[in-house]
Amino acid sequence: MYKQINNAYSYIYSKYPQPIDIAIICGSGLGKLAEQLENPITIDYNDIPHFPVSTILGHEGKLIIGTLCDKTIIAMKGRFHYYEGHDMDVVTLPIRVFSKLGIQTLIVTNACGGIREDLNPGQITLISDHLGFMAPSPLRGPNLDEFGPRFQDMSDVYSKDLRILAKESAKKVNVDVKEGIYCFFKGPMFETPAEIRAFKVLGADMVGMSTVPEAIVARHCGMKTLGISLVTNKAAGLSSNELNHQEVMEAANSAEERMIKFVKQFIKDI
Ligand code: HPA
Repeated sequence: MYKQINNAYSYIYSKYPQPIDIAIICGSGLGKLAEQLENPITIDYNDIPHFPVSTILGHEGKLIIGTLCDKTIIAMKGRFHYYEGHDMDVVTLPIRVFSKLGIQTLIVTNACGGIREDLNPGQITLISDHLGFMAPSPLRGPNLDEFGPRFQDMSDVYSKDLRILAKESAKKVNVDVKEGIYCFFKGPMFETPAEIRAFKVLGADMVGMSTVPEAIVARHCGMKTLGISLVTNKAAGLSSNELNHQEVMEAANSAEERMIKFVKQFIKDI
């Protein structure tokens, strides 16, 4: 694992050997943020050792490094999902690489289904905590001592400080932001209505197929994470609509401008 991390790191560092402040992982339909970076350097995942290539519509495969609001940003346009068949160490490889690049702040965005009654399509929601025990742990296997401890505390995965700051940033740009608990679902099928009812009993407010592995590894690396979910649909069984990826993409695209306005203000404020 160290060898893979180091190879990927060395390649990216050779393209951009300056410090980077923040890493951003762009979720489904939320990749336009990466296009806003000034003086961008684009690196194809194809060219980075050990990076797989994303195959999902709406998920490209590029790393973009540039500046936004006077901060240096590395943005992933396209991420790796467990449901694509990747092992968790592949899904989370970019986070280890970002940590090696000296990055201490991660912003991760995703599209999700809303479970809680007030979480309707278009709602931007900060992740306050997650339910991830239904997925294999990305920390399973020999511990990478260089990054963090064998038994990692998980009580502040989604940094409270960053959430406080993010709520202030949202107010400044008049974007309504709520908070909720995100439940990881392995996918790639959407959940059944019975599964959603069960997740609700367990305390989930929203559900999605990403983010949790990356956030766990970021915590293990000592990074601070802000998780932002965009609700693209009511979760299974909570509306009469049949779920499909097209609907998710359309809802994400139509909220993208608001999302970018909010994230940009947050980057300015951080
Ligand atoms: N379930 C899982 N993942 C999702 C959903 C959903 O309802 N919407 C967007 N991503």
